[in-house]
Amino acid sequence: MDVYEAVTSRRAVRGFTDRHVPREVLERVLSAAAWAPSASNLQPWHAYVLTGGPLAELKKLAGERVAAGDPWDEPEYEQYPPALKSPYRERRSAFGEQRYGALGIPREDLEARQRAASANWDCFGAPAALFCYIDRDMGPAQWSDVGMYLQTVMLLLRAEGLHTCAQMAWAKYRKTVAEVLSPPDELILFCGMSIGFEDVTVGYTRTGRAPLDETVTFVEG
Ligand SMILES: Cc1cc2nc3c(=O)[nH]c(=O)nc-3n(C[C@H](O)[C@H](O)[C@H](O)COP(=O)(O)O)c2cc1C
Repeated sequence: MDVYEAVTSRRAVRGFTDRHVPREVLERVLSAAAWAPSASNLQPWHAYVLTGGPLAELKKLAGERVAAGDPWDEPEYEQYPPALKSPYRERRSAFGEQRYGALGIPREDLEARQRAASANWDCFGAPAALFCYIDRDMGPAQWSDVGMYLQTVMLLLRAEGLHTCAQMAWAKYRKTVAEVLSPPDELILFCGMSIGFEDVTVGYTRTGRAPLDETVTFVEG
């Protein structure tokens, strides 16, 4: 698979089979992803990979919180600006329409949206997951490094025939994740990532993108 194919075939997959993801594949991918760039080579990512019993335990604990209607953990970072302005606001609502529309859930049915979103805490059925932390001392440039690292992981997983879904949702249950992973206190959970083989019976709508001239400016001589 070439890089273009890896980039264009990556999408947030929200339905996985229980097919085992071999440890050696994960090690190969994470060894290669370590070559992701970072400013001054800080490599500010801290990744935890969960499979088998520990992942099942995490899904169980998170599921219990969902069932109990437990409030989300207080955020350690702001996931979105409080008042999202144009054009981001419109893009976000178009995404919501697409994501939940594909599941036949109307805009006003917030409860059904919540129910669909709660599949996050089952990792959409995935048998492997990665949780990426960053030191709380780090600033925007290092958060960006972590983003590059995660995209590198996702593309390499595509090259192995696997799919992913990055999940900031896990930050909402970060204390439950910490119960299973016991990370050092100085780390903040940025996001989780479901990893596995796609369940092709789960329908989806491909999420669109803004036209090139909305996000790219060529300044030519
Ligand atoms: C940092 C990050 C966090 C995300 N968090 C979630 C999440 O919690 N749950 C989810 O279902 N999708 C999540 N996504 C997936 C995005 O919704 C998805 O990437 C976006 O809508 C574009 O769609 P595509 O990846 O299928 O092209 C996340 C993506 C990123 C990059």
